[in-house]
This record gives sequence, structure tokens and C-alpha cells, in this order.
Amino acid sequence: MLKGKKIVLGVSGGIAVYKAVELLRLYVKAGADVFVIMTKNAQEFVTPLTFQTLSGNPVHTELFDLFQEKEIGHISLADRADLFVLAPATANLIGKVAGGIADDLLTTTIMATKAPVLFVPAMNVNMWENPLYRQNEEKLKSVGYQVMEPALGMLACGWEGKGKLPDPADILAETERLLHPRDLAGETVLVTAGPTREEIDPVRYISNYSSGKMGYAIARAAFLRGARVVLISGPTCLVPPCGLEFHRVGSAREMQQVVRQFADEASILIKAAAVADYRPAQASLRKIKKEQTDNLQLTLEKNPDILAELGQNKGKRLLIGFAAETDDLLENAARKLRDKNLDLIVANDVTEAGAGFDVDTNVVRFLFADGSREALPQMSKDEVAHALLDRIKRLKEQRNN
Ligand code: PMT
Repeated sequence: MLKGKKIVLGVSGGIAVYKAVELLRLYVKAGADVFVIMTKNAQEFVTPLTFQTLSGNPVHTELFDLFQEKEIGHISLADRADLFVLAPATANLIGKVAGGIADDLLTTTIMATKAPVLFVPAMNVNMWENPLYRQNEEKLKSVGYQVMEPALGMLACGWEGKGKLPDPADILAETERLLHPRDLAGETVLVTAGPTREEIDPVRYISNYSSGKMGYAIARAAFLRGARVVLISGPTCLVPPCGLEFHRVGSAREMQQVVRQFADEASILIKAAAVADYRPAQASLRKIKKEQTDNLQLTLEKNPDILAELGQNKGKRLLIGFAAETDDLLENAARKLRDKNLDLIVANDVTEAGAGFDVDTNVVRFLFADGSREALPQMSKDEVAHALLDRIKRLKEQRNN
């Protein structure tokens, strides 16, 4: 996504400068060409040499540098950029830009660029809450600059609260989002992911091998493409992607409740979760002791079929299901597509190498409501997610024409 993109990373002076080094490393790893501009104060925390070594490009610090001015340094940097990222952005930098002040290389270059600009503030919580700072931030947003929310936590100054620089991985994700074509802007995509857990007693449950990777990849991809995303996830070890609406659930019935809560707001519903079909008819309130019996019998009853329920009342929404099969992949998927009134079903044979549960890749077939089918080769789950969203976009366009 960032391959070949030119990013100007503006670094202003605060303790979080060390995290900008990690951010630079992530950008370079993702294939971006990064040009760093440091303010005088930033150089008090980390030397330009560190940024220069990691970016492979000279670090810019001076407005009146004769060598750089041969090509009018600040203008050429401003023109060259696909994106400006200011991290950390101090209250001082934000105040200057909001006030139209351009008195050093960084502020001058920000003023001169037509590229999108992302400010990533980091400061003391009292500064962040100061009404003057708040006004400045609002001013930036009102003219189209992007401003990320700082993270919550213990600050270097000893105070606890909002003001920490967000995790560099989250800044990377936001950067990718800003550079990605926003072809799903205006859509609300509801995604379910992961397994459900059906309680047997307070220490045991029935579940399955779903890791949530497929569903999370879809949620991330939809968010990158500009959609509002509601991710409803069963228990997984994955970190919820930054910037989207996240709801954690346990059982199938909990998932059903949260899906019902948000379904009306969604224009696209994608059910990648591996919902348990059955649950113990009676969950024991106390731990079942092995001394009680040598032969424990569990009676299971059917869980609600959340996808089928959505299919009965789908209105104008696009409804997409997954089929995890071990036998007769296409026949079973086609039956689910029809019975659950879906627009598209993604069939994966979970016995196939590199496909299905708890791996980073998948091998899928798309089956459409009009009878057409498409087989995709093995791809990363991120690639499958984008391929799926491409097909969904096409369905939307066909519907609108
Ligand atoms: O999470 P990963 O480790 O990345 O693995 C990905 C995956 C294998 C879980 C995913 O690719 C996948 O196939 N998800 C669907 C798993 C599943 O439950 O398939 P199914 O054939 O049993 O169900 C068909 C569809 O009905 C699914 O969209 C499912 O979410 C939905 N369903 C099923 C039962 C139920 N009670 N309610 C439902 O909504």
C-alpha cells in the first residue's frame, strides 16, 4: 500500500520523538520513501543522523540552506509529498499552523503543500485540554487537516491522561487509510469475526478454531477504503484495529443481540464469524466435577442462525456470508447462499492447506446470487478482503444502475 509513496515526516520537539524513529522504520519497511524534517527542538531529543540512517535520505532542518535552496527546499519537499505526517506534533507546532505562522522549514513546508496532512499530537494532558489548544485543533480540522486522537496513559511528565503519541502501528494504519482510494466512503460495513463460545459451566465451553484473522482483515480493508466499520468479534487474541467501532461478544446469542443493534445502520453486512451451531441446553452454574460421573452427557440445542435472520429482512442491504466446509464445498455453499437469501457467499474448504482457520492465507471461491462463480488462488487474508470488497463494490454499482 505504501510502496513508492513519498511521505514527509515532520518531527517537532517532545519526548515522543523517539517513537517517530519507530514510525519511520515501519514506513520504510512498508516501502515508502520518507523525507524527514526536524524542528530545532526535535533535534534536542534525537539527532538527525538517526533519521537519516533509517530513511536513507538527508534530513532537512534549515529553512535557509543554500544547497537545498538551489531547488527551493521547502517548496520541492511540499510538492514531492504524497502525504505529510507530523509526529509528534506539539501544541506549539499546531498553534503555529493554526495561526498561519510559517517561521521555520517545517511550518513553511506544511503551508506550501497541497498533499493531505496528518497531525499526530503528543503533549501533556493539561495542554491537550487547554481551550486555546482545543480551538487550534478545531481550526486545523475545519480547513481539512487530519488530526489523530492521542492515546491515553501515563505521560512522561508524570501526569496520567490523554496526550501520549499513539502506537506507531496505529499511525501506520491511519497513514495507509489516508493514502488509499476511499471507494467505500458513505457505506457502513458491519463485519462479524472470530468464534463464539458456548458455556458448559463456569470453566468450560464449546467453540471452534476461528482466530478472527479473516474477519479482522475485512474490517481493516473496509476502514482503509473509507467505510464506517462496525466490527463484532467473538473472543480472539487479535488487537482490535484502530479507528473502527468494536464490540466484543462471547456466545452466539450475544452476537445476535449486537448484530440486531447495528444491522439497520449498515448498508453492507459481512458474516465471517464462525458461529457455534449448538450450545449446551443447560449451562451448569457450578463447575462440573469429574467425580460426579464417568460418562458425562451434554444435551445441545440449536443456536439462532444470525445470517438467516438477516436474510429474512435484508431490505436494500447487501448480505454476504462465508461457508466453511470440509465436503462438497460448492454444493453446500450454493445451498447456504440460496437458503439464507445472500447476495454473495465466500466458500472456503477448511481442510485445504493455506485455507480456513487460524492461518494468514485463504483459498476462496465467490458464489453470486445470479449463479456466477469465481475461484481465487491462495492469497493473504488481507488480499482476500480487498478482492471481496471489490466484488461488493461492483454489486453495489450494478444495483445502482
Ligand atoms: O477466523 P479465521 O481463523 O481467520 O478463519 C476464517 C474462517 C474459516 C472462520 C472464515 O473464513 C469462515 O469460513 N467463516 C464462516 C464460518 C462458518 O461458521 O461457516 P458456516 O458454513 O458454519 O456458516 C455459514 C454462514 O452462516 C457464516 O457466514 C456464519 O457466520 C453464518 N452463521 C452460521 C451459524 C449461525 N448460527 N449463525 C450464523 O450467522
